[in-house]
Amino acid sequence: MNNYCFDLNIPVPHPLADPSVLTWEKELEPNIWWADKDNVSKEFTEFLDSIGLTMTYPILLFYTPERQGIPIHIDGPSVCDRAVMNWCVDGAGSEMLWYQLKDDALTDIKETTAGTPYTRYTDDQVIFLHSQPVRWPSIVQTGIPHKVTNYGLEKRWVLSCDLSLKSDPGKGLTWEQAKEIFKSWML
Ligand SMILES: [Fe+2]
Repeated sequence: MNNYCFDLNIPVPHPLADPSVLTWEKELEPNIWWADKDNVSKEFTEFLDSIGLTMTYPILLFYTPERQGIPIHIDGPSVCDRAVMNWCVDGAGSEMLWYQLKDDALTDIKETTAGTPYTRYTDDQVIFLHSQPVRWPSIVQTGIPHKVTNYGLEKRWVLSCDLSLKSDPGKGLTWEQAKEIFKSWML
């Protein structure tokens, strides 16, 4: 097992209550947007509750057209340890890639279309570590530089669920916490 991605088989058909929110009319443009905070399926909410978890934020949706990608970035202002549950729809052949930041890399903090902070990096600022497809779902590390390639013929959506312990609902999960919590459902 690596430290960047592991796949799960959990007893939940879909994290969204209303998947019609995945609609995005500008098919050739990437996009990031929030689902409504109440748009979480009953099964997912109950599953999280049963294992002592809650959603940190609403579900964040990422759309990447075919033959495109998401450049190297961190979901926040600096390197950290953040394990997130991502559900990938379509995007056959797409992969998520992880990188180590070189010590001298300058930061370039921007904002996504969803208003979330992200820090962009160029190829020469990072060292490749690992690549793997995201499944339905996978736990992924988003606190270190990563990017997505979707160079095949399918559009790709990711439903990203940032989870927290009910006892500390704003904090998110570390990699070690996520491994421990989800060990029974790992593939
Ligand atoms: Fe990201």
